Amino acid sequence: MTAALVLALGLVTAGSVAAQHPRSHSPTDRLIDSLIARMTLEQKLGQLNLPSVDTRPSPQQLDLVRQGLVGGFLNLTGAAAARAAQHLAVTESRLHIPLLLGYDVIHGYRTIFPIPLAEAAAWDPAAAESTAHVAAREAAAAGVNWTFAPMVDIARDPRWGRIAEGAGEDPYLGSVLAAARVRGFQGSDLRATDAVLATAKHLAAYGAAEGGRDYNTVDVSERTLREIYLPPFRAAVDAGVGSIMTSFNEIAGVPSTANRWLVTTLLRGEWKYSGLVVSDWMAIAQLQAHGVAGSRAEAGKLALAAGVDMDMTSGIYLDDLPALVRSGRIPVASVDRAVRRILRAKATLGLFDDPYHGASVEREAAVLLAAEHRALAHRVAREAIVLLKNDGDLLPLAESAARHTIAVIGPLADDPGAALGAWPGHGDPRDVVTVLAGIRERAGAGVELRYAKGAGIVDTSTAGFGDAVALARQAGVAVVVVGEAADMSGEAASRSTLGLPGVQQQLLEAVQGTGTPVVLVLLSGRPLAVPWAAEHVPAILEAWALGVETGHAVADVLFGDVSPSGKLPVSVPRAVGQVPIYYNHKNTGRPPSQDKYTSKYIDLPLPSSPLFPFGYGLSYTTFGYSDLRLSAPRITPAETLRVTVTVTNTGPRSGTEVAQLYVRDEVASVTRPVRALAGFRRIALAPGEAQRVEFALTPRELGCYGPDLRFVVEPGRFRVFVGGSSAEGLEATFEVTVAPRP
Ligand code: NOJ
Repeated sequence: MTAALVLALGLVTAGSVAAQHPRSHSPTDRLIDSLIARMTLEQKLGQLNLPSVDTRPSPQQLDLVRQGLVGGFLNLTGAAAARAAQHLAVTESRLHIPLLLGYDVIHGYRTIFPIPLAEAAAWDPAAAESTAHVAAREAAAAGVNWTFAPMVDIARDPRWGRIAEGAGEDPYLGSVLAAARVRGFQGSDLRATDAVLATAKHLAAYGAAEGGRDYNTVDVSERTLREIYLPPFRAAVDAGVGSIMTSFNEIAGVPSTANRWLVTTLLRGEWKYSGLVVSDWMAIAQLQAHGVAGSRAEAGKLALAAGVDMDMTSGIYLDDLPALVRSGRIPVASVDRAVRRILRAKATLGLFDDPYHGASVEREAAVLLAAEHRALAHRVAREAIVLLKNDGDLLPLAESAARHTIAVIGPLADDPGAALGAWPGHGDPRDVVTVLAGIRERAGAGVELRYAKGAGIVDTSTAGFGDAVALARQAGVAVVVVGEAADMSGEAASRSTLGLPGVQQQLLEAVQGTGTPVVLVLLSGRPLAVPWAAEHVPAILEAWALGVETGHAVADVLFGDVSPSGKLPVSVPRAVGQVPIYYNHKNTGRPPSQDKYTSKYIDLPLPSSPLFPFGYGLSYTTFGYSDLRLSAPRITPAETLRVTVTVTNTGPRSGTEVAQLYVRDEVASVTRPVRALAGFRRIALAPGEAQRVEFALTPRELGCYGPDLRFVVEPGRFRVFVGGSSAEGLEATFEVTVAPRP
């Protein structure tokens, strides 16, 4: 390596020391100082205490509020109950401090939007911001002032059920969406009554659980942490996220909830994060099970010393820390620091002025499931559907015989729970338009629509196959809706296999065996390995769990009212044995080839590629890329390169393309991914229409962490790829050079 330019970029050296912020003396600071000065030790620790209610606070919990021993509740929702608890806190507790009221508003409060993974398939940050904003508006009306979202964990292993809650496998897409979701939840002013405090979770590398098994051990290098798992957290911090949750897992022997390097040195020191840090559910107590604390008190001491401000549900800070502080084993200053962060969050939300934060029974009734919220859910659900295969243009369903008798088959066709997906908040199955209902409504009276469940999701009975097959035989087309139940993804829902559960695969094969053309609609919280379907079934839609408007969105696509535009935010494996699988892998010294001694599986077709690659998704029209140009053949490390390309709708229908830019640093001092996403644009084009699209490659996209983990743009040759997925595209090269431009 010749001279390399170290760029600060705010991504400075690992291990840099925390800058000390001089304390300002705003009126808020004075209020907080005066509250802290008047608090007993127990009341200070009370602010750090976050118990959960079982729908409503118990009399004992209300008594704790009166005594100032509760900083907030989770799972207390509903305007009436939230107002009652806040009222009690601000009128009957000694210091009149309002409560944080936290809830998992993951993809909607009552209006349930597509699961975050599905929403990521829309590659539409503005849409993600809007759905988060609507979720915040509904939640705030119902008394919630703090959401435990967005989950920004990168997931390269679809066995991990929580892949459903995040933006998929890519740090660039994940960062863009993390920032959008934070902006959506928090708005520009957290005091606004349609804003809630957001939480970026789970710090860190929770998605790297060994074997994809939830809560399992993680052992990743600091390089992989910085390159892959941390960027979305950094993006959330830069977007002003007010809260961060530590993860359940350990990283290389240190549980995150006891990880001072992660929570204090990196997050607060290097990244200058000044918001609050909350543990996950019982995670402080679980430091004992991890085997790094011999008692509850020791667990509490470790977590507080790491920089975890708030104790979710363990009760350890409240119960066990007073004695440690009194005996001098924990400095009171570290308690005060944590209290200050909680009070600051409350002040930022404006709770000292309006503890109800706009929550009211009337407002709740007016905003929950408002017509415009449903309309947004419908629009985003359409965008999230990915067309994986469409042989012979089976879709959209033609105005022909095929459309006059439609057989809808499968256990998920009329399952509102599966449509809502994991973490459905206060979503109500009765609000859901199922796939069957959506098709029925759209098909109208002239179409004979018949439905057979065919089988259950997991049970093994094939008794319903006969009916399903008979129905398919009589129909012009069979729409088979199969996949996963809602509780097969999300927390504590890892799977060891990635195929269709139960006998759904056999059901699909039986229907396909009738010779009637089959459209496979997959509902799932993760990418499913469906190699048989990819080979035999002519048309496949990945429809995830799209929320309350699932059926309308699927019908829009089936009938061609909209062209599908979703692109995969995750690689779809051929076989579970390929995971972890991700497009931005390294080349290895022996990239796969016909040679035996190269990196591949002997029982998968070369080159051991995914079934469908990251960024992939078809449309009812086609798009061409041409005239790729770079603004310069070479740039210096501090400069920005402009990449332009023409995207043309070369097919017969209107459509939306997601143009993607990838970059590869061909030779560097450390190995680099074969491609890394560095930009994308959604563009709607009429038939024949062309648009020039421009991307900017800045040092942030071109740099890497060198051997010493300093972020640097290294001189040398780079390759760019621009196209419609991670597995295709036009290519060009350019140089980064330290020599001045000629
Ligand atoms: C545990 C989950 O890991 C976390 O994501 C969630 O926010 C909390 N429970 C609270 O429900």
